[in-house]
Amino acid sequence: MKSDIKLIDGHGKRLDGRKADELRKIKIEAGVLHRADGSCYLEWGGNKVLAAVYGPREAIPKHTQNPLKAIVNARYNMASFSVEDRKRPGPDRRSVEISKVISEALERVILIEQFPRTMINVNIEVLDAEAGTRCAGLTAAGVALADAGIPMIDIPVACAAGKIDGHVVLDLGQKEDNFGDADLPLGLAPRINEVILLQMDGHLTMDEFNKAFELAHHGCLVVSEMQKKALLEKYESVVQPEEVVQDVQPEESE
Ligand code: CDP
Repeated sequence: MKSDIKLIDGHGKRLDGRKADELRKIKIEAGVLHRADGSCYLEWGGNKVLAAVYGPREAIPKHTQNPLKAIVNARYNMASFSVEDRKRPGPDRRSVEISKVISEALERVILIEQFPRTMINVNIEVLDAEAGTRCAGLTAAGVALADAGIPMIDIPVACAAGKIDGHVVLDLGQKEDNFGDADLPLGLAPRINEVILLQMDGHLTMDEFNKAFELAHHGCLVVSEMQKKALLEKYESVVQPEEVVQDVQPEESE
């Protein structure tokens, strides 16, 4: 949608004061739900997202089972109160599309051949939405899957870049998404450097596309480090090496 709003000033500053290559603030917490096998709470700018993983467990109904691999079933859902105009509860075309692209992205990294006839459910609940929720959702799902101990070749991560007022910038905010020229969400398996999701909304020239891709790729690498830090923070505090060493000290004989 075009508007008269100026999204970036003459000094390259955006509406929220960010520079072109700056991410919004991100906070990631692993293992926040007790009943899920793995979970993550993530804040990304104004987005608040919960991801919960259940499985792998026997796929039911039985006819859905694949004898060669696990089925990855990601379900992206926006709470009615997560957007400005109350959203009608339940799936709509947009959430079905996002669930599908996230499921396919996750299938690329999970070692699905190790779990034939099973299903891995990944629930992504958007509690507050402020643009970039599919990237936030995929990033949270990556942490939740790792928290569940599900074998993966990599922890998936995502980040978008886009174009506003003719400038290519990283990580669009709400007004930038609404009134900007293009949005390019990228999902990545960062360690093996493989693209697992790539979508585009709007128009970019080939040069702009390459620049946006580079920016989004860089964003993915930064967020990937935050994912690992969140997982380390959870698991480092669970096992204290000094305590283990003390426990296995032999008792001195008299
Ligand atoms: O969230 P993402 O950028 O991945 O997907 P989008 O379809 O480009 O949506 C952009 C933003 O529009 C969302 O993050 C929400 O903030 C907003 N939106 C909304 O206000 N109402 C909806 N029914 C859907 C999206």
